[in-house]
Amino acid sequence: MEKTLFIIKPDAVKRNRIGRILSMVEEAGLKIIRLSLMHLSREQACEFYAMHRGKEFYEKLVDYMSSAPCVVCVLEGNDAVKLLRSICGATDPTLAAPGTIRSEFGINITMNSVHASDSSESAKREVKFFFPEVE
Ligand code: CMP
Repeated sequence: MEKTLFIIKPDAVKRNRIGRILSMVEEAGLKIIRLSLMHLSREQACEFYAMHRGKEFYEKLVDYMSSAPCVVCVLEGNDAVKLLRSICGATDPTLAAPGTIRSEFGINITMNSVHASDSSESAKREVKFFFPEVE
């Protein structure tokens, strides 16, 4: 069993898409083991996305992620990192395959509705960042 971090971003929370997105996650066979509605501080968003510091989209990304509440979850399942990334679809919603979460709900590359850890190393760091008690 593997764990991964999943965030439903402010655009989807504001448009009442939490339930539909979590249904897609559960239907894919992933188990929700932690779930919290959180309004990230700018400092938390900066730290969470520290690997993107210096990129042209970084400031816009942290402003956006700290602009309104998100739903932050830990998901568990077989090959959870890869499975979750496949149901999220490409980062840019215009390039995401039909039927994926970002294709259904994403607005643009910043307001792309969800975040999913991109590797098992990132998943360990990201789960610990929000839920330090999770093994
Ligand atoms: P996410 O999976 O949360 O990881 C980093 C985020 O940066 C990404 O989703 C996008 O929302 C955002 N982003 C904005 N512009 C870009 C870009 N050009 N390339 C990659 N990510 C971008």
